[in-house]
Amino acid sequence: MSLLQDLNWRYAAKRMTGETVPQDKLDAILEATRLSASSYGLQPYHIIVVSNKEIKLKLQAAAYGQAQLTESDVVLIFTVQEKLTAADVEKFVAKIIATRNMTDASMLDGYKQMMLGTVNGLTDEQQQQWSSKQAYIALGSALAAAAEQKVDACPMEGFDKTQFDEILGLNEKGLKSQVILPLGFRSPEDYLANLAKVRKSTEELYHFVK
Ligand SMILES: Cc1cc2nc3c(=O)[nH]c(=O)nc-3n(C[C@H](O)[C@H](O)[C@H](O)COP(=O)(O)O)c2cc1C
Repeated sequence: MSLLQDLNWRYAAKRMTGETVPQDKLDAILEATRLSASSYGLQPYHIIVVSNKEIKLKLQAAAYGQAQLTESDVVLIFTVQEKLTAADVEKFVAKIIATRNMTDASMLDGYKQMMLGTVNGLTDEQQQQWSSKQAYIALGSALAAAAEQKVDACPMEGFDKTQFDEILGLNEKGLKSQVILPLGFRSPEDYLANLAKVRKSTEELYHFVK
């Protein structure tokens, strides 16, 4: 199937069957998400992959009882770091050098200074907002990859972040939940599955500058 067919197939599933997502499909979704683009390539987010049924039940209570939390098989929790520091930039630069077998690390000095300028120039709250934008791009990659794998998903912001952070022990890890993505299979009971997509028309959405 083409990407366009996949995107037409997908919808934000409200009811799921509880069926297990095969490991190869989950792996493909996680890998596509890992490969997502981010500003500078810093990937200032971490993704918690929850399949534990008891934890999902607790999360459901903190997500206003929404069915996807327990009827999905796996829930991805996109989190951002509470704080980004120079050490994160240093670690990333070291990774570039190692991955690309660079012999002259000084070639990255300008790039490093730019990243440090961004990280140091933002308050903790601004950093979290910036990191959150990057996490949402990863969410988009995950959504498209799930559609390609014919795995249903529902991006969700309707949850209590403070409670999620507590349930998942994120405070100790210096992480903050932002958005979640339950993954599973649509239920025949989900009336939304067969409804037409509602989207802006091309004319409404795009402003072409020629
Ligand atoms: C960032 C974001 C947050 C969302 N939060 C929720 C949510 O908490 N619960 C829910 O049922 N759907 C949620 N949705 C799903 C949207 O309502 C859905 O994507 C939208 O109505 C468009 O429909 P479609 O994705 O089925 O084509 C969210 C979607 C996005 C992108």
